Amino acid sequence: MALVPYEEGAGWGARQLHSPAATYRFASRTIRLRQDWRRLGVAAVVWDAAVVLCAYLEMGSTDLRDRSVIELGAGTGLLGIVATLL
Ligand SMILES: C[S@@+](CC[C@H](N)C(=O)[O-])C[C@H]1O[C@@H](n2cnc3c(N)ncnc32)[C@H](O)[C@@H]1O
Repeated sequence: MALVPYEEGAGWGARQLHSPAATYRFASRTIRLRQDWRRLGVAAVVWDAAVVLCAYLEMGSTDLRDRSVIELGAGTGLLGIVATLL
């Protein structure tokens, strides 16, 4: 279990969430997502849990080929994008 405390305007995590964009590299692709915490809140930023699960899927222990996947609470959709690329 992980707990990520959020305090407006404080800490590295807060700065990351307030950044206008987030860039990741998964499945040999660069994925750049726009973020907008101020206007849309929690649904418009990439959370650490999505990044961790993307990294886990990329490790290959779960075969996603020819599978149907539904991402609930997708937010910016990073996980769904990575699952599709994999
Ligand atoms: C903390 S954000 C996480 C977004 C994304 N999964 C990530 O890790 O970057 C929670 C997401 O769940 C969505 N959400 C909250 N309640 C929901 C519900 N009842 N049904 C579907 N989505 C929901 C929110 O809109 C938001 O996009």
